[in-house]
Amino acid sequence: MDIYGIIGNPVEHSLSPPMHEAAYDETGYDARYCKFPVEDGDVETAVKGAEALGIKGLNVTIPHKQAVAELDAVENDPTAEKMAAVNTLDLEEMKGYNTDGVGAIRALEHHGVEVDGAEVVVVGAGGAARAVCFALSERDTRIRIANRTPEKARDLADELGGSAEGYSLDALKDTVSDADILINATSVGMEEDDTPVPAEYLDSDLVVFDVVYSPLETRLLRDAKEVGAKTVDGAWMLVFQGVEAFEIWTGKKPPVDVMNTAVRRRLKDD
Ligand code: ATR
Repeated sequence: MDIYGIIGNPVEHSLSPPMHEAAYDETGYDARYCKFPVEDGDVETAVKGAEALGIKGLNVTIPHKQAVAELDAVENDPTAEKMAAVNTLDLEEMKGYNTDGVGAIRALEHHGVEVDGAEVVVVGAGGAARAVCFALSERDTRIRIANRTPEKARDLADELGGSAEGYSLDALKDTVSDADILINATSVGMEEDDTPVPAEYLDSDLVVFDVVYSPLETRLLRDAKEVGAKTVDGAWMLVFQGVEAFEIWTGKKPPVDVMNTAVRRRLKDD
């Protein structure tokens, strides 16, 4: 039996075990996926120990993504290296990947959204925004980042290079009306009925994607539906970062629907 898992702190509420185990069951793969809480100073020992034990792969979550990216024993793929953050480790090859951002893009494309050529407004400049923006920057997109702390938006835009620009949240009024895709990558709306973008800025031509998945229908997505915009919820990003990891680890075709159902079932139970 092959073993996979997730390291982070905390990992108790991770949705990855039911999602990956549903995929193993569906594809007839004899494997298990475990949660491993790891303290800050133990990351290197944990990764080397997992390799020595023959664990096939690990996901890495907060707060260890940066620490894993810095390990000498791990060779990062170009995206993970640029982002300086690893969320997926192939322990057979000792290679680090970051599937968060590409997961967001695949989530959009799964819903028929044209990413290439799009003008995208990303709200937020933290870890989630970083992942999304780096993946967008590998495609033909124009990225505008709006953040409560505008310096962070400008720093991220500088790091991305190209045509990316950073603003304060005040810029949403003008930038959203020109955009094709609006992505909330802040925590606003999580467990609270609040939105980072006033409803009057939204229109029916927009695609609105929220990385928040609890609740599944945030106020932003509800407002977007009300004006007739297309919406994509945060559970899809979670699903597609897992789909990418499953592909990296197994080389098998991932059962996307089964993984999506497992995630949504668990979110409803919580
Ligand atoms: P994550 O890893 O989930 O992205 P993070 O790195 O802490 O978490 O980033 C949180 C993001 O949400 C940041 O962009 C933050 O804005 P600041 O950079 O100004 O802190 C944004 N955010 C959090 N609470 C917010 C609020 N009440 N209003 C607007 N933005 C908020």
